Amino acid sequence: MCGIVGYVGPKSTVDVLIGGLRRLEYRGYDSAGVSVISEGHLQTRKKAGKLVNLIGEIDSHPIPVSHIGIGHTRWATHGAPTDGNAHPHLGGTREKLSLIHNGIIENFSELKAELLAEGTRFASDTDSEVAAHLIAREYDKAGDLVVAFRTVVNRLHGAFTILVVHEDQPDVVLAARRNAPLVIGLGDGENFLGSDVAAFVEHTKRAISVGQDEIVILRAESVEIIGFDGKPVTSEEFTVDWDATAASKGGWPSFMAKEIADQPQAVADTLMGRVDSEGRVSIPEMDGLSAEDIKNIDRIIIVACGTASYAGDIAKYGIEKWSRIPVQVELSHEFRYRDPIVTKNTLIVAISQSGETMDTLMATRYARDLGAKVLAICNTQGATLARESDATIYTHAGPEVAVASTKALVAQITAGFLLGLYLAEVRGATPSSELQKLGRELLRLPAQVSEVIEGLDEAKALGAAMASAKSVLFLGRNVGFPVAMEGALKLKELAYIHAEGFAAGELKHGPIALIEEGQPVIVIVPSLRDEDSLHPKVISNIQEIRARGAKVIAIAEVGDTEVGQWSEHVIFVPETEQLFAAILTVIPLQAFAMALAEAKGLDVDQPRNLAKSVTVE
Ligand code: G6P
Repeated sequence: MCGIVGYVGPKSTVDVLIGGLRRLEYRGYDSAGVSVISEGHLQTRKKAGKLVNLIGEIDSHPIPVSHIGIGHTRWATHGAPTDGNAHPHLGGTREKLSLIHNGIIENFSELKAELLAEGTRFASDTDSEVAAHLIAREYDKAGDLVVAFRTVVNRLHGAFTILVVHEDQPDVVLAARRNAPLVIGLGDGENFLGSDVAAFVEHTKRAISVGQDEIVILRAESVEIIGFDGKPVTSEEFTVDWDATAASKGGWPSFMAKEIADQPQAVADTLMGRVDSEGRVSIPEMDGLSAEDIKNIDRIIIVACGTASYAGDIAKYGIEKWSRIPVQVELSHEFRYRDPIVTKNTLIVAISQSGETMDTLMATRYARDLGAKVLAICNTQGATLARESDATIYTHAGPEVAVASTKALVAQITAGFLLGLYLAEVRGATPSSELQKLGRELLRLPAQVSEVIEGLDEAKALGAAMASAKSVLFLGRNVGFPVAMEGALKLKELAYIHAEGFAAGELKHGPIALIEEGQPVIVIVPSLRDEDSLHPKVISNIQEIRARGAKVIAIAEVGDTEVGQWSEHVIFVPETEQLFAAILTVIPLQAFAMALAEAKGLDVDQPRNLAKSVTVE
């Protein structure tokens, strides 16, 4: 939520900042702006709307060459998305200081009142501008920018990453981080700051993740990190494991199209090194949790938001079935504030693509305070969630840029299943031979996902043909239920049409009242081979809705000879284990939503009102 980038070095700063913002635009696209110091003076350009508007503004008002600057792409919280509320914000009457901010300053009203009483004039409605004026005021008093910066950040409550440049100190960018992400990129004679590594990965792969309540003093030749208390901090460098091409469209019409196509690789990379050819699962990253810890777990609570929560819902079926540990799945924001029961034998599994979702971070912090162990399933190296967890299973989906999640989801489901198999083995809850059979089945998934992707034309054509639909319903049973909810979410996010996912068994308890002539319903059909006989039950549900006028699109396993009799269209996916079918059946729903949104002429990568990494509660 809001992307920030900072740079000091010999390159053209505007180019570096715009390049960084382009890669961070998924974090918010309500406005964008840059400030650089050029020939001793601050130059600021900012514009409401997407980055392209800022680029136009810079083209019409060019900025002289500069070697230091900061840039911001906004997801509006305080103040409408206007030019005036766009960052950077200037501080002090002489406007020598420029500031960008990601997060929310919760005590801004009180601080603003203090400044207003002194006669400070504000140019925006944002909370962020308060910090700019406060730092400028402290600097005028103290004459030391670092001292002034430190004094002010210690007074701020809430969540913030703040970057500042000042005309009087044209060689340094200052940054502070509390509850919002910040990563340093280490170059040769140049250094970078970004909300995540995507901001600078085209320039360097050497990075440092900045810790909570830390300040960075960034120069071209040096990087110093101190705590909010002023004491030096030592930090570990890491190497970014993907390159800039992984975060570019690579010829695809949208990031979403590319990321849907990336899914075989996302699943394969998430399995890599964790399942041997015999199907034995090992997760070396789980070393932070001993066998003893694992045996003592009496409950798992999965916390997550949005699409990641559906990955949790799906993983629950496997973890409970194989490990026999009770699992509950909670939306992080609901979990955190309802006084949940958490003990030292509770394992919290936090699922988050970004590892920066504030709701999920707050949930895990809360649970840790109550003594629980936290295991993260996360896609982003150096993310706050990973830093704050006892162990992290990284999903190796690569950078996901489109705001609505696709490849991260299938990687999260894969990681969730791996976790279930691993826990079952350590606890001896299911015979090893059975677990290994499942492990071998997992290894077949990347090829099966490829097969699904090669056959997506039908799902796309059905989506495109439904551009005028007012509502689409999704039904599923067992893992098909969370798949149905994810299908509905994708459609809401991308195409802005009403969509709901229901448990097929729940249909006659209410949702069937929604069915009228012509209502499109997408049904996730369990395998005909399924031993629990869910298949006939879902076929009955299809008949019930058809009798009331529904138009049914079924997603079913290849070889299902029955479903075609009762559906307008059937999209077939390959045969796999009952639970693993979640990964195969969700993909046509992604393609369906994308094609429908495209047919409506919508931007599938940056849907309205959304941001990818929601770093406010
Ligand atoms: C936002 C995004 C969703 C994502 C959710 C959780 O709402 O728009 O696509 O599923 O955040 O994000 P996370 O990074 O925690 O997985």
